[in-house]
Amino acid sequence: MRAMVVRRFGGPEVLEAVEVPVPEPGPGQVRIRVAAAAVNPVDAATRSGALSEAGVIPPREVLGLGWDVAGRIDDAGDTRFGVGDAVIGLRDRIALPLGAYAEYLVLDASAVAPAPPGLSPVEAATLPLNALTAAQALDLVETTGTLLVTGAAGAVGGYAVALAHARKLPVVAVASEADEALVRQFGAGEFVPRGPALGDRVRAVVPGGVDAVLDTALLGLDALDAVRGGGEFVAFAAGAAPLPLRGVRVRHVWIRADGERLAELAGRLPARVAGVLPLAEAAAAHERLAAGGLRGRLVLTP
Ligand SMILES: NC(=O)c1ccc[n+]([C@@H]2O[C@H](COP(=O)([O-])OP(=O)(O)OC[C@H]3O[C@@H](n4cnc5c(N)ncnc54)[C@H](OP(=O)(O)O)[C@@H]3O)[C@@H](O)[C@H]2O)c1
Repeated sequence: MRAMVVRRFGGPEVLEAVEVPVPEPGPGQVRIRVAAAAVNPVDAATRSGALSEAGVIPPREVLGLGWDVAGRIDDAGDTRFGVGDAVIGLRDRIALPLGAYAEYLVLDASAVAPAPPGLSPVEAATLPLNALTAAQALDLVETTGTLLVTGAAGAVGGYAVALAHARKLPVVAVASEADEALVRQFGAGEFVPRGPALGDRVRAVVPGGVDAVLDTALLGLDALDAVRGGGEFVAFAAGAAPLPLRGVRVRHVWIRADGERLAELAGRLPARVAGVLPLAEAAAAHERLAAGGLRGRLVLTP
């Protein structure tokens, strides 16, 4: 089968098409015939070597890319799934030689959920990583008070706003001015445009500061400055956690696959597709991701 991998780190041009044997599922695993695989920032950070430099990925000769998958079960093994079932799933092991940028992907059945009805595979592939990350980040927050979400128009941030709103948390969203209507539609009650002196501008809206922040834009200290003393901060990347100034409790979210949770989330959150490209054009997708300004995910189809 055809897959896209990296054997050296660098720009989008290091993405390489390879022919490899179709992977065989082991106990408790399924093989999915991939119909769509979303392109996420983690793929770019894997390809560039940023995650290896950060110590998140151990040395490997070959790294597969792609975490989000939508497709049909091709080999159900000993699992509860049947051949032909439409599914979505998440690869959460970061250092594997094959990912979802491929014609077939083997996953633990526990990482797989039925595809949400009414969505195409391209739409469904945009859900797993970002829906689960947003939900698992919110799990880390204990407050029932005001929540700040930076990067609120982004894939994780948009879902975080929607899920926090559903939990009845008052949400302050930080995004570009052009995205105010979008993030209010997700459920933000207050909007603060991105830019300098964020802490001051958030405190002008929420006197004393917010109770917690989900910092999906990786602003670090600038986002922490908006949190009240003793509040909560959730960081989303290696090196993105600030010092716990003023007694703010700083935590990291690290995504983990969870098919049951994914099934529940997939029916509640909107799919966000920025564009569709053939798998062979993964490098072009990475260039578009690097250019910024995408709303939703680019999706690759084998
Ligand atoms: N730890 C985990 O388990 C985990 C899981 C998933 C994702 N992540 C990480 O979480 C981060 C967000 O992921 P994502 O998929 O949501 O990315 P995304 O879709 O690119 O969204 C990021 C958003 O942040 C915005 N942004 C950038 N700089 C900003 C600033 N200074 N102020 C306000 N907003 C700003 C971007 O706007 P523009 O596009 O206009 O620049 C974009 O809307 C990434 O670093 C990703 O690697 C971590």
